[in-house]
Amino acid sequence: MSRSANVDWSRALVLGIESSCDETAVALVRGGREILAHRVASQTDLHRRFGGVVPEQACRAHMQVLLPEIQALLDDQDVRSDDLDGLAVTNRPGLIGALLTGVSAAKALALAWDLPLVGVNHLESHVTAARVAEPDLSPPFVALIASGGHTGMYLVGPGGTYRRLGGTRDDAAGEAFDKAAAVLDLPYPGGPSIERAARKGNSKAFPWKNACLTSDGRDLSFSGIKTAVLYAARGRQAGRNERLTLDNQGVADAAASFQRAVVHALVTRTLQHAEACGVDWVALCGGVAANRALRASLESEAARMGLRIALPHRELCTDNAAMVAARGTELLAAGVRDGLDLGASARDEPGPDGARGP
Ligand code: KG4
Ligand code: ZN
Repeated sequence: MSRSANVDWSRALVLGIESSCDETAVALVRGGREILAHRVASQTDLHRRFGGVVPEQACRAHMQVLLPEIQALLDDQDVRSDDLDGLAVTNRPGLIGALLTGVSAAKALALAWDLPLVGVNHLESHVTAARVAEPDLSPPFVALIASGGHTGMYLVGPGGTYRRLGGTRDDAAGEAFDKAAAVLDLPYPGGPSIERAARKGNSKAFPWKNACLTSDGRDLSFSGIKTAVLYAARGRQAGRNERLTLDNQGVADAAASFQRAVVHALVTRTLQHAEACGVDWVALCGGVAANRALRASLESEAARMGLRIALPHRELCTDNAAMVAARGTELLAAGVRDGLDLGASARDEPGPDGARGP
């Protein structure tokens, strides 16, 4: 595709598209770091009554809003297709139908507008959000990626290599927030609901502090605390359909105790791995990184150890397309291109082992 021949990628204007789960997001980013504008059309209202994301519904909603969102983004910024230098789209990992919606639209636009196209790993783009926030962040550093579908700690090396240091053995941290909230009759998505409820609760009311740390000193587990919350909320014999037995204060106490345990586990393990790797920097990435208790705890514990931390703006922790455009610009600048045969993949790890560099 000819348009990319003489592009100065440090000034290039890239359109990002994100549709891996339940957010249809588009963004315009200049030079891989300057966010001109980004829009997120959330499907939260659509999925709330089901208590979680329904893939078929997500797919249909992406199809309905994606092109109008792109049009509105370009119109608002007075940008024409001729002004663009490249197009980046999330193509892995995520809900396959949702991903394919974004990938198909991106391929059609790349063809129609004669733009270089690149598929982006969603997890790597979450890490790029930390680099957008902290331009000084450079490898090697330890990244905690904690989202709704993924929770792992990685050593990010020069050239964008990722070595998995540890992570969840069962549920992702965000998934645990969502499930605990459902058990406590708090609205979907669970992360922000638990955070809100926890403010009025006693975080020591339930003895769960160490419940998410595995005995090997390396990994995390969120399935045990999920059961503990269920028993606390609905009795030991209970299934999820049993009546909630906690009053409002009990729900707040359970939310605060749950949040304390998850935060304690994420911070403990991340800093332990950072210390073992001898890095100076830790990056906090993914939707759960929006959690204020987690941010505050990591900030103070890291400061005590003399570590620097990169925290994306809260708005850029949860799914967005600015991080996709930023990651796409890095790849395009390194000469990575995809053709009209670009596919999507439900599963992937970050880094060249999972996919490709840099
Ligand atoms: O990265 P993300 O937006 O989507 C995925 O890639 O999965 O992460 C979504 C997850 C959800 O599980 C949501 O409950 C959680 O991030 N989350 C939070 C907060 N905001 C979003 N978890 C804890 N506290 C929050 N404030
Ligand atoms: Zn995400």
